[in-house]
Amino acid sequence: MSKVVVMDHPLIEQKIGIIRRKETGTKDFRQNISEIAMLIGYEATKDLKLEEVEIETPICKTTVKQLKGKKLALVPILRAGLGMVDGMLSLIPAAKVGHIGLYRDPETLKPVEYYCKLPADCAEREVFVVDPMLATGGSSIAAIQLLKDKGCKSIRLLCIIAAPEGVKAMQEAHPDVDIYIGAMDQKLNDHGYIVPGLGDAGDRIFGTK
Ligand code: PRP
Ligand code: URA
Repeated sequence: MSKVVVMDHPLIEQKIGIIRRKETGTKDFRQNISEIAMLIGYEATKDLKLEEVEIETPICKTTVKQLKGKKLALVPILRAGLGMVDGMLSLIPAAKVGHIGLYRDPETLKPVEYYCKLPADCAEREVFVVDPMLATGGSSIAAIQLLKDKGCKSIRLLCIIAAPEGVKAMQEAHPDVDIYIGAMDQKLNDHGYIVPGLGDAGDRIFGTK
């Protein structure tokens, strides 16, 4: 079964408090989403493998560590996942970025795919899927299935707010995918929104409502 890591850090809690407030405007919402993404990314990259290499400082030869193994890819689920890209890239600037476009049908709550463009060597990379909201889980489950269909084997999911229903569905669908969560909320409402949540993440990041 996959690992579920719920963040436990005062800075993340403070910033999630800001994005939950309905009076927080687009600029502050976007900035805090980006900062939270970086802080979750710090935790989600904690077990990346290192190797020792010999280098020379201006003073002498020494051994340092550098990242080893698979290269990284970042895959935001459009639209709202785009808000997490900058924060993640500030940690892993060499990562390639793929995009998966999915929207949730408001009636059925099922994800509808409209775009997919991934790095050509995505299957050989360690993939970090980012989306601020894990509600029913439908969108993340579909995005990760798409990545697996393209051959990706090593995938993690980073989200800012999750509902227990979505986490359960994700673990059932993809038991090999570890999930890193900023805050675990109470439940979904009748419209599939996370309670207490923060409303529609995409609309709040892009100011479309
Ligand atoms: C939101 C969010 C997730 C999805 C979560 O996207 O960014 O992708 O809903 O819900 P789920 O877990 O029930 O699938 P939305 O469909 O609103 O599209 P948008 O990002 O373009 O606004
Ligand atoms: N998508 C959102 O943007 N917010 C929710 O609460 C659920 C799905």
